[in-house]
Amino acid sequence: MLNVYKIREDFPILDQQVYGKPLVYLDNGATTQKPLVVLETIDKLYNRENGNVHRGVHHLSTITTENYEAARDTIRKYIHAAHTHEVIFTHGTTSSINAVAFSFGEKYVHAGDEIIVSGMEHHANIVPWQMLCERKEARLKVLPVDETGDLMLDKLEDLISDKTRLLAVTQVSNVLGTINPVKEIVEIAHAHDVPVLVDGAQGIQHEKTDVRDIDCDFYVFSGHKIYGPTGVGVLYGKEKWLNEMPPYQGGGDMIKKVTFEKTLYEDLPLKFEAGTMNYIGAIGLARALEYLQKTGLDQIIAWEKALLDYATEKLKKIPGLHIYGNSKQKASIISFLIGDIHHYDTGMILDKLGIAVRTGHHCAEPLVESYGITGTVRASFAFYNTKEEVDVLYNGLMKVVEMLS
Ligand code: ALA
Repeated sequence: MLNVYKIREDFPILDQQVYGKPLVYLDNGATTQKPLVVLETIDKLYNRENGNVHRGVHHLSTITTENYEAARDTIRKYIHAAHTHEVIFTHGTTSSINAVAFSFGEKYVHAGDEIIVSGMEHHANIVPWQMLCERKEARLKVLPVDETGDLMLDKLEDLISDKTRLLAVTQVSNVLGTINPVKEIVEIAHAHDVPVLVDGAQGIQHEKTDVRDIDCDFYVFSGHKIYGPTGVGVLYGKEKWLNEMPPYQGGGDMIKKVTFEKTLYEDLPLKFEAGTMNYIGAIGLARALEYLQKTGLDQIIAWEKALLDYATEKLKKIPGLHIYGNSKQKASIISFLIGDIHHYDTGMILDKLGIAVRTGHHCAEPLVESYGITGTVRASFAFYNTKEEVDVLYNGLMKVVEMLS
C-alpha cells in the first residue's frame, strides 16, 4: 500500500498554511503539484545545462538535445506508442487539439462533412472543432450523456455517417469524473473508418494509458496535470496520419530546406515542432512520469479509488448535497452542490478554511448547463491527498451548511 505521508514529503508546496490553516489542496483537476525531482530537474537545467535544442554544436545545446529526445522516448514508453516520432511536443492539451483540428482538418475535412464530439467535453475539445466546422462549412454533432453521467454509446452508431471525418472524446470528464470506455468507442468508430482523438488531459494521471491498446488515432495530454511543468504537452498521433498531415505552424526547426520559392519540411516529429519548444518543460515532464512509475501506477490508482470511495460516502452525509456524475467507472473527481447554495459561496468559505476546490462551469459550459445549473463545486483528488483531508473537507462543508442553509 502506498505510504501517502512519505509521498507528501516529495511535494514541498503541500506543507504550508493558508489563512493560518493547513493547506488542503483538492484542485488537482485544474493543476497538480510538482514533486521535488521535477523542481530539481528544472533548477539544474536552467542553472547548469541550458542551451537551445537542435540548434547548436556546442556542449550545452548537445546535452539539451540529448535530454529532450530522451524525454520523448520516456513519454513514448509511458503511453506505449509504437514509435518515438509519433510523440510531438506542444504547449498542452489545448494546443495539441488545435493542432489536429487545424492540420487534420485542413487535409481531410470539407464542406458538408461532420465531426462528432461528446456532450461531456471540455471547451478545448469543442471550440477547435467548431472553428474548423466554421472554416470548412462542416457540421458538429454531439454524442449525448445520460442521467448517471455516462455517454449514451447506443446512440453512437446512428450519429456516425459516411460524412463523419473524426470523433473527439475525453478519456475522463473533468466535471463528472466519468471514465469513458474509449477502447470500445474507438472500436465502434473504426468499424466505420472514423478516426478518433482521445483527450487524455484528465485521464492519463488516473489511468494506465496504452495508446496501442486503445487503438486511438490521436491522444493528447498536458504536462501540468500529471505532476510535470506548465506550458508543455503532448500530441500522440499514429504515424500514418502524422505523415500525411500538413504542418500547421511554420518556422524554426520544422524545415529541411528553405528558399524563397519553396520550403521542404522536416520528417516527424520535428515537422510539427515550429519555433523553440519548451524543452525544459519536456524534460521535466519525463522526470514526472518516471517518478510516477517508481511510485507505482497500480498503487496510485488503488489509493485514488480508496479516496474517491471514502470521500463519496462522507459527502453523501452532508444534508442537501447532490453529486453530479455517478458513473460506476469514475476517477477521483467529485462535483457537487449543496441545496441552493451558490458554488462560489461554498468555494469562498472552503478557501478561508485552507481548502482549495474549483467552482464554476469548469470550462465545460454545455455539460454543466444541461443540468440547469451555472456551476458546481469540484473536489479533485491526487494520490498525495489523505483521508484526513477528506475529513477536513467534510467538516468545512458542514460549516457551509451551518452558515448558509
Ligand atoms: N481543465 C482544467 C479543469 O478542469 C483547467 O480545471
